[in-house]
Amino acid sequence: MRKPLVAGNWKMNSPTESSTILLENILHHTDQLKKMIKDLNTSSAIDIAIFPPAVYLREAQEILTGSGIHWGTQNVSAFDEGPYTGEISAAMIEGFGCEYVLIGHSERRCLYETLELDQTVLDKIVAQKYEMATRHNLTPIICIGETADDYEANKTEEVIARLLDVLIAHKGPKALSETVLAYEPVWAIGTGKSATPEWAQDVHSFMRERIAKHDKATAESLQILYGGSVKADNAAAIFAKPDVDGGLIGGASLDVEEFIHICFAAALKAS
Ligand code: PGA
Repeated sequence: MRKPLVAGNWKMNSPTESSTILLENILHHTDQLKKMIKDLNTSSAIDIAIFPPAVYLREAQEILTGSGIHWGTQNVSAFDEGPYTGEISAAMIEGFGCEYVLIGHSERRCLYETLELDQTVLDKIVAQKYEMATRHNLTPIICIGETADDYEANKTEEVIARLLDVLIAHKGPKALSETVLAYEPVWAIGTGKSATPEWAQDVHSFMRERIAKHDKATAESLQILYGGSVKADNAAAIFAKPDVDGGLIGGASLDVEEFIHICFAAALKAS
């Protein structure tokens, strides 16, 4: 049984005065969540990870250390060190006690797209970041998803297969067991229009099968999250699908009660 993971991506939200409150509230509510799911005997059967803006990492480390909640960054540099203004290296991130890092989020891809880079170049950058993260003991959560145009043109599997093949070629199929994948249809992110549970299941199963062609055991053990307008009221149905192992949550992770409900939906799956 794969352990569900619920990851909260704060994006560029939360001003200084409220990041502490938000983290403390999450901690407080997680204690409540643990009590709620005690009956299900699953209190340690899900993982929760928070991705605040990098300037709040020190607070995350101070507040969350020892709580069982993990934390990480929303991006990592593809390089070790050097003249890369504004970038943050994997070594720096590791220094803040992070265990995870988001890689290839579509909002990052959009920023690179302004440089008119080809999608295949972007896939290679994602692979380089994957390499950096694992070299520094960080688990990359690698985001994959099609745009609305790709979706309309029936290119979902093509887009997903392209990046999966790059990742497999980069470090071999077995190395994917050190990662988490997140299927994030770009048309569902921040739009309130989530993929249906059936659609998410079909895509997740396609991803697992593609990896299984190279390494069955890795495909079977790999966590694949769904992300894109997951809320308290649709999380349970999406997470109930057999190949969905939790979620990457954007907007709803800023509302503690909503976020904890989503965590509870993942705990129900684990029970
Ligand atoms: P959303 O964002 O939950 O606000 O749609 C998901 C994400 O960007 O990871």
